[in-house]
Order: sequence, then C-alpha cells, then structure tokens
Amino acid sequence: MKTTRAVRLLASLTTWSGRRCLAVMLVASLGGNALAAEASGEALNAAVRRIVMNHCGSCHDGSRVSANPAALKIFDLRDEDWTAQMSEEQVLKLNGRGKSLRPADRARLSKFVDRVLESRRASSQ
Ligand code: HEC
Repeated sequence: MKTTRAVRLLASLTTWSGRRCLAVMLVASLGGNALAAEASGEALNAAVRRIVMNHCGSCHDGSRVSANPAALKIFDLRDEDWTAQMSEEQVLKLNGRGKSLRPADRARLSKFVDRVLESRRASSQ
C-alpha cells in the first residue's frame, strides 16, 4: 500500500502538479525543521519566555507597575535565567499555572519544564 503510494508520488513528480507537490513537501519539511530547532534549546527558551511574558508578566515581571511582590519572590522575568531561583517543585508547578494557555503554548511550557528539570538533574550528578 505504502509502496504504491510512493510509486505514484514518484510518477507524479515528473508532472507539473508533481512539482507543486514537491514544493508543498519542501515547505512541510522546513516547518518540521523549525519545530525541531525549537525543540532543541535556545529557541524553546525564547518561545517560552515570550509566552510567560505575555501571560504571566503582569505579576511576574518586576519592571511592570502591576508586578506583585509575592509573585516576584517565586520568579522575576527581569532575570535572564528566570527559573534559576525556583525550587524543583515550583518549576513543576509552572505547568499547573499555565493550564489556561492555548494547547500549543502549554505543550511548549511543559517541554521547557522537562528540560529545566533534566538539566538540573544532569548537572547535580
Ligand atoms: C495576577 C497575578 C499573577 C499572574 C498573572 C500569574 N501569577 Fe504566578 N503567582 C502570583 C502570585 C501572587 C504568586 C504567589 C502566591 C501564590 O502561590 O499564588 C504566584 C505564584 C506562582 C507559582 C508558585 C506556585 C507555588 O505553589 O509555589 C508559579 C509556579 C507561578 N506563579 C506561575 C505562573 C505562571 C506560569 C503564570 C502565567 C501562566 C502566572 N504565574 C501568572 C501571581 C500571578
């Protein structure tokens, strides 16, 4: 079944619509690369910082007048490495507090939480 589809795809690549199809596949794989890049560190950190700035910054960003002192004690987005002062338990609780985020952002936050905890465990060995 899969083979048939592959053969048909190869055949169609020689046609005009096949070339368009190739373009679609290229775009799809580039999109995949962007996701893969995000999955690997820097880009994920930046994406999560943006999400948390937007959704949590009103209380957790010490540069805003609306910042809440109790919230800043947990984390302050003015810090470059804003999770550094948090306990493992608090880092885990990011997921709970992020429940109202849209699913894609919740997934990013959850991956970020896993990364932070993994790297702490790795460096404490
Ligand atoms: C309206 C202000 C406000 C917003 C917005 C806000 N927080 Fe907080 N947050 C607080 C305050 C105040 C505390 C400390 C008291 C408490 O635990 O509720 C806190 C505590 C926390 C804690 C520690 C919880 C614990 O039990 O130790 C985490 C984690 C946290 N916030 C994450 C988030 C995340 C993630 C967002 C955005 C999705 C967010 N907060 C948005 C005010 C806020």
